[in-house]
Amino acid sequence: MARPELKIENLHVAVDGKPIIRGLNLVIRGGEVHAIMGPNGTGKSTLAQALMGHPRYEVTAGTVTLDGEDVLAMSVDERARKGLFLAMQYPSEVSGVSTSDFLRTAINARRGEGNEIPLMEFVRKLDRALKTLEMPQDMVRRSLNEGFSGGEKKRNEILQMMLLEPKIAILDEVDSGLDIDALKIVARGVNEMLSENLGVLVITHYQRLLNYIRPHFVHVLMQGRIVKSGGPELAEALEAKGYDWIKEALGIVDETVGQEV
Ligand SMILES: Nc1ncnc2c1ncn2[C@@H]1O[C@H](COP(=O)(O)OP(=O)(O)OP(=O)(O)O)[C@@H](O)[C@H]1O
Ligand SMILES: [Mg+2]
Repeated sequence: MARPELKIENLHVAVDGKPIIRGLNLVIRGGEVHAIMGPNGTGKSTLAQALMGHPRYEVTAGTVTLDGEDVLAMSVDERARKGLFLAMQYPSEVSGVSTSDFLRTAINARRGEGNEIPLMEFVRKLDRALKTLEMPQDMVRRSLNEGFSGGEKKRNEILQMMLLEPKIAILDEVDSGLDIDALKIVARGVNEMLSENLGVLVITHYQRLLNYIRPHFVHVLMQGRIVKSGGPELAEALEAKGYDWIKEALGIVDETVGQEV
């Protein structure tokens, strides 16, 4: 199997008519971990939502392809089936659907009709992932995310990633709200999945997560585009010095996509 490749070219995204992502280029290949960092309100979650096809996020220009196929022409379902995965910054709660039923349905949708996962194989994979993530068995019998603590929801997102085996996984602030032990556990789940068959985009504010999930590339997002890229040392510099030195070097006064037209 060839390594997957997600290619984003000159992407522009508007929300309610307001331009948020403004000319973003990025290529993520299997085996690579990319981190996107950047101050609040610079478009990180907007990028993630637009890649998954959230209807509120309107792509006004640019192209996105996964293994050469036009992602922007696909429905949300199709994107998931083709191997795109998003762990959300704010996972939603779904009553009446257990996590395990949800997972099995999602896996089968990805595998396609006639190729459903055998029950025993599903149980084995689920058990293994639960063990890695140190999640209790009874958690997957509860309604999806309902009443889950913030940290439990994040673990549940990674559980989904582990079972769905995506080609490209986007993790939006999967570290927010996690205690130190949970952070290491979540990172363990991601690291266990890393291979040539998976490319990862980690959105985070903190270098700490990147100690556990080592990125090959670090990108800084400001004003809806990548203004600086580097290796892991860039994340360390940001942790030590903040963002002002980048803004100064690039002559950026307001890094958000907020006020100016
Ligand atoms: N539905 C919306 N309507 C209006 N503005 C929006 C909407 N969604 C996002 N925005 C604006 O787009 C900008 C970027 O938001 P986004 O959530 O992408 O930021 P972010 O980089 O993920 O920030 P954070 O680090 O705080 O998560 C913000 O100014 C936000 O208010
Ligand atoms: Mg965000």
